[in-house]
Amino acid sequence: MAGLIPQEFIDDLVARVDIVELIDELVHLKKAGREYKACCPFHDEKTPSFTVSADKQFYHCFGCGAHGTAIGFLMEYSHLDFVEAVEELASRVGMDIPRGGDTPRPRGPDSTPLYAMLEQARGYFRQQLAGHPAAPEARHYLERRELDAKILERFEIGYAPPGWNNLLRVLGKAPEAGQQLLDAGLITEGSRNEPYDRFRDRVIFPIRDRRGRVVGFGGRVLKDDTPKYLNSPETPVFHKGRELYGLYQALQIQGHWPRLVVVEGYTDVLALAARGIDYAVATLGTAVTEEHLKPLFRLADEVVFCFDGDRAGQKAAWRTVEVALPALRDGCQAAFVFLPEGEDPDSLIRRLGPEDFEQRVASASGLTEFLFSHLQEQVDLSSLDGRARLAGLARPLVEKIPPGALRQLVIKRLGSLTGLESAEIDEVVGRPSSPTRPSRPRISQSTDRQRPSLVRSAIQLLIHHPEVGATAAIPVDLDKLELAGTSLLLEILGLLAEKPSLSTAGILEHFRDRPEGRHLTQLATLAPPALSSEGLSQELQDILARLLRKLEEQRYRHLAQKCGNTALSEAEKEEYRRLCSAMPGGENPG
Ligand code: UTP
Ligand code: MN
Repeated sequence: MAGLIPQEFIDDLVARVDIVELIDELVHLKKAGREYKACCPFHDEKTPSFTVSADKQFYHCFGCGAHGTAIGFLMEYSHLDFVEAVEELASRVGMDIPRGGDTPRPRGPDSTPLYAMLEQARGYFRQQLAGHPAAPEARHYLERRELDAKILERFEIGYAPPGWNNLLRVLGKAPEAGQQLLDAGLITEGSRNEPYDRFRDRVIFPIRDRRGRVVGFGGRVLKDDTPKYLNSPETPVFHKGRELYGLYQALQIQGHWPRLVVVEGYTDVLALAARGIDYAVATLGTAVTEEHLKPLFRLADEVVFCFDGDRAGQKAAWRTVEVALPALRDGCQAAFVFLPEGEDPDSLIRRLGPEDFEQRVASASGLTEFLFSHLQEQVDLSSLDGRARLAGLARPLVEKIPPGALRQLVIKRLGSLTGLESAEIDEVVGRPSSPTRPSRPRISQSTDRQRPSLVRSAIQLLIHHPEVGATAAIPVDLDKLELAGTSLLLEILGLLAEKPSLSTAGILEHFRDRPEGRHLTQLATLAPPALSSEGLSQELQDILARLLRKLEEQRYRHLAQKCGNTALSEAEKEEYRRLCSAMPGGENPG
């Protein structure tokens, strides 16, 4: 997504926004030395360990580890995605996001006509439910399912009549229309390359995205044929792993819900809505993905997942836990309801009514509760071994939770269940020692191990003091150095040469979508080098000189080896001679 908004614009935005002003409006900041402090908005604390740096345009909590740029802060605090956070910041400082690269997908067919085609198809299916000679059967079917006209209207339920080329006949007249019907997944090509209608003699459920555009359809047979449901295939505008059936309709009623319920089927959403439960959404025959959950956790205070009571339901629920953990935000809860075996929300609400269903949802078991009860079934808590095993099983899950109150809650719960201190948990689980764990230093190797590498020192220096990099003299050929991190260091130096006024946050935003981004952000949370600004420039030049030295050593070794095997070129001989005289104790090869 970040690719849609030009990096230039992000640079300007980050330069124009003041993180101190932004955060101060939401969390009251107090000046403390060069930085600002507050009680952390991401975890519960009494003494402030949340700091904001105006120089770096970066925040960091020493308590829970939360950290990031202004964009990152808004994403965390206001539960926005990247684009939304950029939009919000841009409007604060009165900048317009350039919409030059407006097409959402640069490659593949242009999506705009597909939306129009899908919209026309929706209208066609809707008309057919009212007027096609074969439609009475479909209408009876919907009546039997107790779906009244109001619901059919709100969800725009339609009917795809029998026949193989209805859509081509009705919507396929324009020259490009055939291809568009194909690209939109409405028609499909058989083995003999003859296109025909995908949906035939089925009740049609149009699927709208959050912005209200029709992106695809589901279709159900009227009898017991198979497949029971057909869905649109993946198309440039339809991704099953992203869309949720019924979300658009729920958001039409209100933009934020105290509770949203996730069910499995189209008809579950409809049956619930028909009985006044307007806050149900369904996945489209796939498991829940993180892409589903991120918006849900923003749009509701609580997300309740409904599953069958059987083993398959338990398994699906556990999968959902694993997907949900990284997407969870403070202030939003996830909970799980298990329905009696053989029932789904549709059958249940028709049998027992909406109060019963709401009661079940209200007493759903919370994510932490479900997580620990599931883990506890696998261990024996009465033995030390079992408690350690519990800690071992929980750790990878805990690590998925973003820093904040929820994560702390889970860690606390783990501690109280196992009776182990976190250091002890580390000990038994066999994790590399944490800084709090007292361990005897092994003198022989400790000092060298702990000294950060040259490259890392330089990167850390630049992250904290980008202004120093802007004027640095970068040795030519340093890109030939074979040393981890060198290309990243050179990339940052190049960036700063080009944009001398980038702040810490400005650099970090360049790497947001890359794996290096996380490491760089980590470096920004470490203590800055304690040197004056001339000292810093000197330090950087020293490091670069030492790296250059390393490069010479590498070249020297390479040429020395090569000249043992084959003849060197004139240029190589020349270089070798120069390097020999430069090496300590080096002698001229003559
Ligand atoms: P279910 O088989 O649980 O059906 O599928 P249901 O929702 O109870 O349907 P009814 O009550 O018999 O009408 C749940 C969901 O799985 C997907 C659909 O999205 C459906 O809503 N599904 C199911 C398919 O995609 N294809 C199928 O053949 C069956
Ligand atoms: Mn059903």
